[in-house]
Amino acid sequence: MKIAVAGATGRVGRHIVEAIAERGHEAVAMSRASGVDVVTGKGLDEALSGVACIIDAASGPLTEQQAATEFFTASSRNLQAAGEKAGVRRIVAISIIGIDAFTAGYMAAKVVHERAMRAGRVPVRILRAAQFHEFVDQLMAWARQGDVIYLPKMQTQLVAARAVAEAVVDVATDTATISEIAGPQPEDLVDAAKRLAARRGDHARIEVVSNAADPDHALYESGGLMPGPTARLAGPTFDAWLATASLR
Ligand SMILES: NC(=O)c1ccc[n+]([C@@H]2O[C@H](COP(=O)([O-])OP(=O)(O)OC[C@H]3O[C@@H](n4cnc5c(N)ncnc54)[C@H](OP(=O)(O)O)[C@@H]3O)[C@@H](O)[C@H]2O)c1
Repeated sequence: MKIAVAGATGRVGRHIVEAIAERGHEAVAMSRASGVDVVTGKGLDEALSGVACIIDAASGPLTEQQAATEFFTASSRNLQAAGEKAGVRRIVAISIIGIDAFTAGYMAAKVVHERAMRAGRVPVRILRAAQFHEFVDQLMAWARQGDVIYLPKMQTQLVAARAVAEAVVDVATDTATISEIAGPQPEDLVDAAKRLAARRGDHARIEVVSNAADPDHALYESGGLMPGPTARLAGPTFDAWLATASLR
């Protein structure tokens, strides 16, 4: 089966490309690095020739709601239109667990992403994932002010990007019907960040903040990101992943 991956160089996209090849399918890597732009549509028609399924693992700006919304609106429209033209049979898009309840920022843009994807004519399956193990480091980098890292209070069932990739390829190839993928156990973001800092030998002070200005702050704090009872739970745990992760 020929499967195109939008966002093929990203945190999860690179693992998806690997998982597709390991299962004996053919992956078409799509990102701006390989001349395919899902926002402008450049290179999409050529990349999708003979493709049976598109996996959408592309992501735009994370910090601004409007820019993220514009990204996902354009990428969904372009992937749907080019997919239909190429005779693609299914699109699998990656989203975030709990997303329906969120109203602001990148999370709100992902609600638009899901809706825009479903508005097209190519049948869509959405796989909602928990926050990736690999994402903790990025959150820490954003939240750093000198020697202090101010992280939001957040409960999340962190999952390895590799486990998300396996699940998304299962959905793409009809090997499993899953709507949510999360890690094996709940984690407190600040605790996870402290373990990551210790492993790296980073002596920054990590402080927890509750951002009352964010209309969704109570959701982050009270389990709004936690998986439901039918989610696939897949290892490794954050600690097992951390033990072998190559950190910058
Ligand atoms: N990170 C998490 O914890 C998490 C949790 C749950 C769900 N998700 C979802 O999983 C998906 C992937 O997230 P990620 O963290 O793996 O993303 P990421 O690491 O930021 O990677 C984004 C990918 O999109 C590509 N891209 C960006 N702009 C593009 C454009 N205009 N045209 C084509 N490709 C473009 C990038 O490659 P180029 O720069 O080369 O174009 C890159 O391959 C997103 O939908 C995200 O919402 C993420």
